[in-house]
Amino acid sequence: IRRSLVACGPWLLVWLLAGCAGAQSALDPAGDQAARTESLWTLMLWICGVMYLLVLLFLAASIWRARRRLAGPPLSQGQASPAERPLLRALTGWVGLTVAGLLVLTVGSFVVDRQLAQAEAGQALRVKVTANQWWWKVEYEDPVANRRFITANELHLPVDRPARIELEAGDVIHSFWVPNLGGKQDLIPGRTNHLTLTPRRMGLFRGQCAEFCGLQHANMALDVTVESPSAFTAWSEHQRQPARAPSDPRLARGRDVFVGAACASCHAVGGQTAMGQVGPDLTHLASRRSLAAGARPYSRGALAGWLADPQSLKPGNHMPYVATNPDELNALVDYLDSLK
Ligand code: CUA
Repeated sequence: IRRSLVACGPWLLVWLLAGCAGAQSALDPAGDQAARTESLWTLMLWICGVMYLLVLLFLAASIWRARRRLAGPPLSQGQASPAERPLLRALTGWVGLTVAGLLVLTVGSFVVDRQLAQAEAGQALRVKVTANQWWWKVEYEDPVANRRFITANELHLPVDRPARIELEAGDVIHSFWVPNLGGKQDLIPGRTNHLTLTPRRMGLFRGQCAEFCGLQHANMALDVTVESPSAFTAWSEHQRQPARAPSDPRLARGRDVFVGAACASCHAVGGQTAMGQVGPDLTHLASRRSLAAGARPYSRGALAGWLADPQSLKPGNHMPYVATNPDELNALVDYLDSLK
């Protein structure tokens, strides 16, 4: 056993440390709020680590002393045990240490909590995120550029600019968490919560619903892209454009299937006849990184599979099976895949 422990030790360490980086890690902060949470976590780790080592040390010392006493001559009646004399001193020390540790942790949590609750002054980007079983509706409202548009399951944020995020829920309680940037914050039906994220590093991050909300809670992810202000402007300019009416007859056929097969009663495609509000807005579906709130990376094939049998990819989700023949399905996939 000892030999295998020695062999596995370095790998175990690598495995443990690997959890500290990546696109979904609270220990690899890419924004102000996540950095504050991470520093509180580090403080807690140090205090708890030192306490743990001290307890182990004193336990070992007590065992050693008790063994030595047992080996020595027996005490006569009325004689105090040598171990009992420093007991009061040790007790005072332990209580003092515990109170001091808890006090530092309490003050630390309070200060960080106040910092996180602070609304950023100035022209923050405004985004409203509504959680539904099991996807995210994302509405952008930019007071500086006077832009408004809706997307789903993805969030784009410009680097170095605070984003004020309004959080609501359409059905049950969910929780918004992008570990590298900040959170968690619950989304509660009938209530509006707020969260500010100030990203400081560009990259792709993964958000995840962090409150159990039903069968597909695990498949309720959010793709987060932190990009340069110019890339963000280009993206948002594109997103606010309505979808163009298809001129290709095959795409036009797909659009007719979309409307005729009742897809349009749940989904909206900006600029066209689809205005449904029950499911995700599909105006620029094919420009997204993933499908069905992170269930699969986006591709034409994944889209076709999803439409052919939505329950096999994400069992229990509210997307019904749409009866289409293979030709209609192909036209529908072509049309949706053209919504870049
Ligand atoms: Cu939404 Cu868990």
